[in-house]
Amino acid sequence: MNKKSIRDIPQAELKGKRVLVRVDFNVPLDENGKITDDIRIVRSLPTIRYLIENGARVILVSHLGRPKGKVKKELKMDPVAKRLGELIGKPVLKVDECIGEKAEQAVKQLGEGDLLLLENIRFYPQEEQNDPDFAKALARLADLYVNDAFATAHRAHASTEGVAKFLPAYAGFLMEKELEILGEKLNTPARPFLAILGGAKVSSKIGVIRKLLEKVNALLIGGGMSYTFIKVQGYEVGKSLLEESMLEEAKKILETAEEKGVELVLPDDFVVASEGAEGVPTQIVDWNKIPPNMAGFDIGPKTIDKFGKYIAEAKTIFWNGPLGLFEVDTFSRGTVEIARKVAQSQAVSIVGGGDTAAAIKKAGVEDAVTHISTGGGASLEFVEGRVLPGVAALLDK
Ligand code: 3PG
Repeated sequence: MNKKSIRDIPQAELKGKRVLVRVDFNVPLDENGKITDDIRIVRSLPTIRYLIENGARVILVSHLGRPKGKVKKELKMDPVAKRLGELIGKPVLKVDECIGEKAEQAVKQLGEGDLLLLENIRFYPQEEQNDPDFAKALARLADLYVNDAFATAHRAHASTEGVAKFLPAYAGFLMEKELEILGEKLNTPARPFLAILGGAKVSSKIGVIRKLLEKVNALLIGGGMSYTFIKVQGYEVGKSLLEESMLEEAKKILETAEEKGVELVLPDDFVVASEGAEGVPTQIVDWNKIPPNMAGFDIGPKTIDKFGKYIAEAKTIFWNGPLGLFEVDTFSRGTVEIARKVAQSQAVSIVGGGDTAAAIKKAGVEDAVTHISTGGGASLEFVEGRVLPGVAALLDK
């Protein structure tokens, strides 16, 4: 990695220093405000532990949800502070603001090795505006800045990019690991290199599809986006998801794959139903025989077998996006089976995106995958070859 990480700061220099750490604690909450998946907190622990063990005064800052510059009670960071405290086994101070008198006082109270969590940074409109005065006020709280929020590194916000102009800025361990794995393993992949893309929309993956076509040997497409590829070949998709505006683009993708000798593999069959609800009657139909009054909600058994053969032969696998409506059990089989096959394969397997990570969890195979990226949008932009502002802002080596 060509950016400095906390490894590059002599350990003795951390003692007593106020270190502002941008983490991504944007965790899913249920209707009662309970955290339903704490993996993003867990993955930040190595950086936090390292800093407290070396006697730093640690000030954590994150966003939670999209409050759009307003205080939203249900998006306060208090449940996160509580969960972090349980995980790390020490108290986490929490303050109701990010800049200003109260925040400054809270920082002053920190002893060596203590932890403070600031309020949801997106309660301030200046965060997403990347307001320099706001970034400067945030920077005043600390002596050093560490960015461990890989999943937010594609946003040029005050706490991810702006603040790095006012403090020496380093990557945390999670950021470093994400950049190394997504960078090295996918840029110099062991071959065959296989990508599996799913999810609802072609439009949100178009950049990454183009980039992957330059790199992979085969690209498997499933999920909601596959119907647009079927429609463009002249077949009806019934009530399945369809992006009319992307038909032309889908055609170009098929042509580019052919020119480049990349195998672009679409489903052979689908599980269809009249609606995507739990327990509804389903049918399995061939890819070109979707009935007009039905929609596809999962890949079928022939597709699972076919995709499985590619997965078994691959040496590198990058997977982003579920292959069906996996959150509804009736339609989860395809995604869960593919997760198991990816886990069983000998390949370096890299999975990105919240939904795909949730599918891996549903299949119970988290430990058998090489790397589950904490980034959704960030991992796609990175694989696409775009510069992530939160990374660019860090000190060069
Ligand atoms: C994510 O969940 O992908 C990150 O936390 C970024 O969140 P955002 O899409 O609201 O910027």
